[in-house]
Amino acid sequence: MKLFNRNLLYILLTVIASPLILFATQDQCFTCHNDLGDNASNLFKEDVHYKTGLSCAGCHGGNSNSDDMDVAMNKSQGFSGVPKQNRVSETCAKCHSDTSFMKKYNSKISTHQLESLQKSVHGSLATNGKSMIVQCTTCHNAHGIKKVADPRSPVYPTNVPQTCSKCHNNAGYMQTYNPSLTVDQLAKYRTSVHGKLNANGNSKTAQCASCHGSHDILTSKDVRAKTYKLNIPKTCSSCHSNKSYMKEFAIATDQHDKYKNSVHGKAVFEKNDLSAPVCNDCHGNHGATPPGLESISKVCGTCHALNAQLFSSSLHKKVFDENKYPECETCHGNHEIKSATEKLLGVSEDAICSKCHTESKNTKGYFVAKKMRRLIDNLQIADSNAKNSIFLAEQKGMDVEEAKFKLRDIHQSKLEARTIVHSFEEKKFKEVIAKGNTASKQVITEANAAIDQFYFRRYGLLIATLVITILIISIYFYIKRIEKNQ
Ligand code: HEC
Ligand code: HEC
Ligand code: HEC
Ligand code: HEC
Ligand code: HEC
Ligand code: HEC
Ligand code: HEC
Ligand code: HEC
Ligand code: HEC
Ligand code: HEC
Ligand code: HEC
Repeated sequence: MKLFNRNLLYILLTVIASPLILFATQDQCFTCHNDLGDNASNLFKEDVHYKTGLSCAGCHGGNSNSDDMDVAMNKSQGFSGVPKQNRVSETCAKCHSDTSFMKKYNSKISTHQLESLQKSVHGSLATNGKSMIVQCTTCHNAHGIKKVADPRSPVYPTNVPQTCSKCHNNAGYMQTYNPSLTVDQLAKYRTSVHGKLNANGNSKTAQCASCHGSHDILTSKDVRAKTYKLNIPKTCSSCHSNKSYMKEFAIATDQHDKYKNSVHGKAVFEKNDLSAPVCNDCHGNHGATPPGLESISKVCGTCHALNAQLFSSSLHKKVFDENKYPECETCHGNHEIKSATEKLLGVSEDAICSKCHTESKNTKGYFVAKKMRRLIDNLQIADSNAKNSIFLAEQKGMDVEEAKFKLRDIHQSKLEARTIVHSFEEKKFKEVIAKGNTASKQVITEANAAIDQFYFRRYGLLIATLVITILIISIYFYIKRIEKNQ
């Protein structure tokens, strides 16, 4: 009997208390505002914070247990009203920069969004002179905030381009900050392979935030920026070298490995040479697409102007276009471009010309290639001969500075020859080589003259010594004879 009574008591207590508990835990702010049917509470129903069990008071402060609006929204209860300017981001950071608070929600997301934002380009002072250029709500909204992985979020990958372009597409607005900043990023982006895939709903392709970051965006002049020249290969290859990430796309993932070992990659990574190209110098930034067959030489020609000019006016230009051979790439490759040597030239097996020119196919080019190689080989020999003559003359202690200086002309001719190759004309090539050959002949003549002079001086001295010795001996005997006669 006693036992039954106690159980009944418990049940009774629970029945009486449950509406009270429910009442106490219910968010009175939301309840009342939901009844008002305002925008904030409507949006809040789909908000990640609502789903996490947070109240309107989490951001606005106040007493969420009170159904009396005068109590609930009282300053003495911590109600802070509608945040303005930087207080907006500070409101978010109350939780999002508080690691121990976020841990209570088992959150795995980072806790330095505000810190990063403050240090980013967007953290600088807006034209109002009072607050940062952007607040958290500029990109995430204030009510109805979604998880990043939710396709309805303004920062979901397929929505990011639109979110950033609210400002970056607005010439009037951007002008008030930085008149030199272009506003064509979105338009160009939509012409790229990335931008087209993104417009078709692909969330894995690159969008603004993949290349620039999100909270930590910096100008590309800043050495810490993801878009700083020396950091670009890493930024692009975070996807392009990731085999599993790129699996669904039928595309190679070796660009970075090859590039690293190319003449360009070595210049950038080993010599910190900022004049050599990284990925976006050849592919563009927002229009990142492989250069079309015909535009490759334009891309290379931005730096190798003479080679491109010669190629464009050569006979190859027309036949390459007709046959859809990519211009420079056919002979030099793209990501794995190596230092060019005369080995490329000619008709031996490893030479590039023999790919298309043989004794039976495209024969005229075959013979020209063969001839050109012979010419350059002969110039090499002429160069060694000249150097050898200088060496011999110097060994004999002769001053051959002037001849030595002419060695530069031979070197110059060799350099010019490597470039004039791109005319693919025997006559032009010969003219350049001839300059080197002439210089070589002059060097050899001058060095030989110095050597002749060395021998002339040596034999001259010998004869003079001989003459003097004979003279002395003659004088000696002459004196002896005079003495004898006396
Ligand atoms: C019983 C109803 C009720 C409750 C409870 C209530 N509000 Fe309100 N709230 C209102 C009404 C009505 C207004 C509009 C009054 C006005 O314009 O001054 C309002 C206005 C606001 C505003 C806009 C203030 C401004 O300056 O524009 C905010 C923010 C707000 N409420 C947040 C809260 C929060 C947070 C809580 C809980 C701590 C809460 N409300 C609880 C009814 C309520
Ligand atoms: C995650 C933080 C956050 C939460 C949670 C939140 N708000 Fe807000 N609210 C803001 C911010 C920030 C603003 C300032 C407007 C802006 O920056 O766009 C704002 C503005 C408002 C305003 C002013 C008018 C408007 O719509 O902009 C009202 C009213 C309001 N909130 C009510 C509510 C109510 C009611 C709830 C709960 C149902 C709520 N808020 C929950 C952050 C929040
Ligand atoms: C310029 C737009 C922009 C602004 C401003 C912005 N965010 Fe974000 N935020 C993003 C983008 C884009 C992502 C998703 C990409 C990512 O994960 O980095 C993101 C992701 C997040 C995430 C998910 C976890 C994470 O860090 O990746 C949180 C939380 C977040 N933002 C909070 C904030 C807070 C708090 C602020 C204000 C201090 C803020 N954001 C300001 C664009 C922005
Ligand atoms: C009262 C604490 C609190 C405040 C204030 C707050 N948040 Fe949150 N926010 C959270 C918690 C907790 C989560 C859930 C974390 C999780 O699931 O990992 C969250 C999640 C998010 C997410 C989803 C991240 C994801 O997983 O993709 C975004 C975006 C976000 N908040 C932005 C904001 C913005 C913007 C503001 C200010 C307008 C803000 N928050 C204010 C506590 C808060
Ligand atoms: C509220 C408007 C606004 C939004 C939204 C915005 N930006 Fe900006 N952004 C600016 C302004 C203004 C500047 C110019 C700052 C200056 O130069 O003083 C800027 C500067 C930049 C710069 C540096 C430009 C340079 O080299 O000087 C980059 C990069 C950039 N934003 C990218 C983004 C990306 C990516 C997003 C989206 C995730 C984004 N922005 C969203 C307004 C915005
Ligand atoms: C594939 C990578 C990539 C994507 C995607 C991308 N950017 Fe860029 N962006 C760059 C690089 C690299 C630069 C630096 C160019 C330089 O310094 O020569 C840049 C420069 C900028 C600048 C500085 C001004 C300029 O044009 O030089 C702004 C602003 C900018 N991007 C905004 C955006 C916006 C907005 C989006 C999305 C619509 C976007 N970017 C998408 C790589 C990218
Ligand atoms: C977020 C991941 C990601 C980043 C970062 C990224 N890409 Fe891409 N990129 C892709 C995906 C995915 C494709 C689509 C592949 C396909 O379907 O061909 C692609 C396609 C391309 C293509 C066209 C390939 C073709 O022939 O179809 C080029 C060129 C390219 N990216 C260059 C770059 C450059 C340069 C950068 C750095 C400035 C970069 N990408 C950064 C993911 C990325
Ligand atoms: C010297 C110029 C140059 C540089 C530097 C360069 N590329 Fe390329 N890239 C090309 C050319 C040319 C093509 C081929 C175009 C064609 O044949 O249609 C190409 C093709 C591609 C493709 C298409 C798939 C493929 O492999 O053919 C991707 C993706 C790509 N590059 C990404 C990159 C990335 C990432 C980097 C930096 C690590 C980079 N590129 C550096 C010139 C360059
Ligand atoms: C942004 C400028 C730039 C672009 C674009 C560029 N290059 Fe270069 N290239 C350089 C520089 C600088 C070097 C010298 C690197 C070194 O050796 O230090 C170089 C070296 C070379 C060499 C080796 C030269 C030698 O002396 O052996 C070849 C071949 C070459 N580039 C071909 C190309 C081709 C083909 C393209 C287009 C697909 C291209 N380059 C695009 C700047 C560029
Ligand atoms: C038909 C093959 C072929 C084509 C097409 C070609 N090259 Fe070359 N290139 C060569 C050969 C062969 C050499 C080496 C000559 C030597 O060292 O004797 C060379 C050398 C070079 C060099 C190093 C010498 C110098 O001028 O500094 C550069 C740079 C170069 N090429 C760039 C280019 C560019 C840019 C294009 C496209 C406009 C291009 N090449 C097209 C065959 C070609
Ligand atoms: C990708 C194929 C290809 C490569 C590689 C190539 N050529 Fe050609 N070349 C052709 C074609 C096709 C023609 C036009 C057919 C012809 O006239 O024989 C041509 C024409 C020529 C001609 C003009 C012949 C005439 O009729 O006046 C010369 C000279 C020439 N090539 C030299 C070279 C040299 C030197 C090399 C190596 C540095 C080379 N070619 C590499 C395809 C190539």
